[in-house]
Amino acid sequence: MIPRLTLDLFLTTADSRQSLAALARHGALARCTVRSHDGGLAAAAAHYAATPTPPVLVVEDEGGDDLSARLDRLAEVCDPASRVLLIGGVNDIHVYRRLRERGVSDYLPRPVSAEHVLEAIRALFHDTQAAPRGKTLAVWGARGGVGASTLAQNLAWTASRHLREPVIYLDLDLAFGTSLLSFNLDAKQTAADALANPERLDEVLLERYLIEYDEHLRVLAAPGDPAGASSPSLEGVERLLDLARRLSALVVLDLPHHWCGWTRHLLTQADELVLVATPDLPNLREVKTLRETLEPLRGATAAPRLVLNRMDAYRKTQLAAKDFVANAGLAPALTLPFDPLLFGDAANRGQMLGECAKSHRVPQALAQFAAQLTGKAPDAGKSAWSVAGVLQWLKA
Ligand SMILES: Nc1ncnc2c1ncn2[C@@H]1O[C@H](COP(=O)(O)OP(=O)(O)O)[C@@H](O)[C@H]1O
Ligand SMILES: [Mg+2]
Repeated sequence: MIPRLTLDLFLTTADSRQSLAALARHGALARCTVRSHDGGLAAAAAHYAATPTPPVLVVEDEGGDDLSARLDRLAEVCDPASRVLLIGGVNDIHVYRRLRERGVSDYLPRPVSAEHVLEAIRALFHDTQAAPRGKTLAVWGARGGVGASTLAQNLAWTASRHLREPVIYLDLDLAFGTSLLSFNLDAKQTAADALANPERLDEVLLERYLIEYDEHLRVLAAPGDPAGASSPSLEGVERLLDLARRLSALVVLDLPHHWCGWTRHLLTQADELVLVATPDLPNLREVKTLRETLEPLRGATAAPRLVLNRMDAYRKTQLAAKDFVANAGLAPALTLPFDPLLFGDAANRGQMLGECAKSHRVPQALAQFAAQLTGKAPDAGKSAWSVAGVLQWLKA
C-alpha cells in the first residue's frame, strides 16, 4: 500500500503527460495528493526555490547537454528527505548508475506508463518504516493562558496553507483543551479515546478520529472534560504521534502546561519547539528554566523559538525583549500585540485569525513565521511586523 503522501509531477513531453494523466485518479494513490506542474528539471528547481518539497517528485528531464548541472540545481533547493524519480530519454546502465550516485531514487527511461511510476513509488516505500514521516512542531506556553493553544491552532492552519500538504493538529490538553470551540467542530472521538487504548490504534482508526477542518488541516480534538481524561502513557503518546506523522507532512502538538514524562519527551523530541510567553517576570523565569532544562536534551542546534505574545497589554510595566535575551538567553522570533478585538472575534466565530482578518498584520506575521518553521519562508523580510517588533523592543 502506498502511504499517504504528496506527489509532484513535472512532465515535459506530451507522451508522458498523456500516459501519466490517469495517475491522479489511480486507486493505488487514493490516499495521496498528486499535483501536476509544467516543465521539467529546470522548472522544478525554480519552483522549489520558494516552496517546500513534497516527499516524492516525479520529474522528466527536458534533455540537453548538462544533466548533472540541472540535477545539482534541483538538489540545492530540494529537501534531502524528498525522493526524486527521474524520467529521461537515455536507456543506459552507466547513466542509471551515475544518477543513482547523484541522489536520484530511480530512473525511468521513456516511454513511461502509470504502472511504471507506481511500481517505482511502491519500491520506495515497500517497508512501512521507510514511509515518509511528517515533521513535528510542539507549542508550549511558559505559563497557562499566554496564548499557546491559540498560536498552535493558527500555526497549524497557516502552515497547512503554506505547505499545501496534510497537517494534523493534536490537542493533547486532554482535560482543558479548547480546540473544539476554537475550530467550531463537533467530535465523536477525541485524543482521549485514541490514548485510552493505544495498542488498538492504527492508521485507519486514527483517520476516523481525525476531524477535517479544511482541505489540508485535520484536528484530533481534546474532550475538554477533566472527568474523562486520564493521564496517557508515554508509549501511547509515541504511538499516536508516529501514526499522525505517517498521515501528514506536519504534526502540531498543543501541549498542556503540565510537566511529566510524556510532555518532557515531546518537548525534547519535537523537530521544532515554540515557547509562548508574555512579557513579565514569571514568564521570563519559566522561559529561562525551560531553555536551560531542555538545552542538554535537545542540543544547542535545536533551540526553541520564543514568541512574545500579548505585547503592550501592560505597556508601562512589561519587560523588554532585551531582558529575555539577557536573562533567558533567547531572542523572540516573533512578537505579537495584545489585540483583544482580533483574537476575541476569531474565538467567538470559531475561526482562525487569517480567516477573520486576512490582511491584518498578525495573521501575516504568523504565516511568515510558519513558513520559517516548515522550510522556505516566502518574501523573507517583507512582512516587517516580527522584525520591526523585535528591533523596536531591543531599543526599548
Ligand atoms: N495576542 C493576544 N491578544 C489578545 N488575546 C489573546 C492573544 N493571544 C491569545 N489571546 C486570548 O487569550 C486566551 C487564552 O489563550 P489560549 O491560547 O487558550 O492560552 P494557553 O493555551 O496558553 O492557555 C484566549 O481567549 C485567546 O483568544
Ligand atoms: Mg492551551
